[in-house]
Amino acid sequence: MEKAIPSLHAARFPAHVGIIMDGNGRWAEKRALVRTQGHLEGLKAAKRVTKAASELGIKYLTLYAFSTENWKRTSEEVGFIMGLIKQYLRSELDFSRQNRIRVRHTGNFPGLPPDIQKEITDTINDTKGYDGMQVILALNYGGRDEIVRALKKYVKNNPDADFSSLSEKDLTDNLDNPDIPDPDLIIRSAGEYRTSNFLLWQGAYSELFISDKLWPDWEKCDLEAAIADFQKRERRYGGVIQCA
Ligand code: FPP
Repeated sequence: MEKAIPSLHAARFPAHVGIIMDGNGRWAEKRALVRTQGHLEGLKAAKRVTKAASELGIKYLTLYAFSTENWKRTSEEVGFIMGLIKQYLRSELDFSRQNRIRVRHTGNFPGLPPDIQKEITDTINDTKGYDGMQVILALNYGGRDEIVRALKKYVKNNPDADFSSLSEKDLTDNLDNPDIPDPDLIIRSAGEYRTSNFLLWQGAYSELFISDKLWPDWEKCDLEAAIADFQKRERRYGGVIQCA
């Protein structure tokens, strides 16, 4: 049966949505399947949700596909996920062309295997002229790692800097993608209440939406429900409500 789609208001639309795609392993375990099968279904969900986000008019979508901590998994699982990422980058190129989607990367690039680096570089170059939604793949990404790298970049570019005047802007300007606005909404699937090192700096005032649904089960209506919930929130950025 078709689910009721919540009505969304064009005026309060999140420009940037970040997603922690969690629950692939549990999805597989529930079905007595191997964990890698869950990642395969997770990739399909990532494609569905990317398409949905583009149709809904979201401007930036950051997908947390592999963290700096995920290397601790078995080499079989890591190898499988890397293979899926390659497959995603290649198979989505037609979709990106048709929908003018620009693909970008955030994370520790030199720490990725050379073949994945090449796929990412090619995809970034192939899509850099597109003016539709921007999909930012967080691969080998850790928020703490990004902050440390930003600081190192700042020091490298400003060897004589006076650190007593270091500002938030100095750091922001040296993040991986300084031109991309902070995420308005961060979604996490599979019911855990933590941010797991995702967009630590940029997510300081992001609204959080936690869903119990495991990532491989995500569909367009789940993204719509998250946005509908976001639209009910009042964002105060540390300020107070002014009474009339
Ligand atoms: C978390 O589930 C998921 C991952 C670590 C990998 C996510 C990767 C994909 C969805 C495929 C690649 C996607 C793109 C967009 C290139 P988990 O394994 O931690 O699940 P669990 O908590 O249930 O064990």
